[in-house]
Amino acid sequence: MPLRHVVEVSQFDRAGVEDLFARADAMRGIERPSTRQSGKILATIFYEPSTRTRLSFESAMHRLGGAVISTENAREFSSAIKGETVEDTIRMASGYADAIVLRHHEQGAAARAAAVSTVPIINAGDGPGEHPTQALLDLYTIRHELGRIDDLTIVLIGDLKYGRTARSLALLTRLSTGTRLIFVNPPETPMGADIREALAEAGVPFSEEPRLDLALPRADVVYQTRVQKERFASESDFLSAKGTYILGRAAYELLRPSAIVMHPLPRVDEIATEVDADSRSAYFRQAHNGVYVRMALLDMLLGDRS
Ligand code: CP
Repeated sequence: MPLRHVVEVSQFDRAGVEDLFARADAMRGIERPSTRQSGKILATIFYEPSTRTRLSFESAMHRLGGAVISTENAREFSSAIKGETVEDTIRMASGYADAIVLRHHEQGAAARAAAVSTVPIINAGDGPGEHPTQALLDLYTIRHELGRIDDLTIVLIGDLKYGRTARSLALLTRLSTGTRLIFVNPPETPMGADIREALAEAGVPFSEEPRLDLALPRADVVYQTRVQKERFASESDFLSAKGTYILGRAAYELLRPSAIVMHPLPRVDEIATEVDADSRSAYFRQAHNGVYVRMALLDMLLGDRS
């Protein structure tokens, strides 16, 4: 069935992901600006801050020849401040645009938006829920860097409780074969029971390893995350979790030469800048891949007019 909305990674099967990745590969080489989506309008409605997701979606739409309308601080500068619901905002915006990229602070907001929208809704992060387009670009980056998405050991580090990117990527690995996950997290931020259950049901092996020095040598992919201060109910829990796992030169000494280090960004101090120039540091390349994957997604949702 063709994609209508992108709300969660469970909407994708292996063939759909491979199709998307092939389209993203093709997007690397298209003329700029293309006319593929000329006349189409994308709305980006962000109730939470963003650098990469909003700008890369907007760059993607411009590169495809479409136009963009945007509210970058919708919590304050849209009619949400007057009490308008997400549903009503989306009912309006779906009359103004051909697709809507929505970031919201409440888990489930993208699904609520999709239920009332007459145009495609793309979930750009719903609170601590999911960030499906980030997971897609993450898996695309793994394929681009390592040449495969199967038979991987992926070490997920940091805030696995509130980190929606880690949650979505873990779920997306259900489409891989022979992939194992190792969770390295402070006690305050374990991977959620919902994700563990989904992985167990799909037969994806996962384990917890609190010792970074034991996990890193096993990794094909290290996926570091920021401890999400804004989502903690308790300041003391945040302070205990913060700074537990930092990747710097000493940690890189433990990595295989062929391993890659990813991070959805933004980072605070969990990857030291001293390792940015190491060829295994893939996080900036990963962020750039977001443009191609999002071009491919927009093209799939809006239809190719060229
Ligand atoms: N990775 C990610 O979602 O980054 P932004 O918050 O800058 O969009």
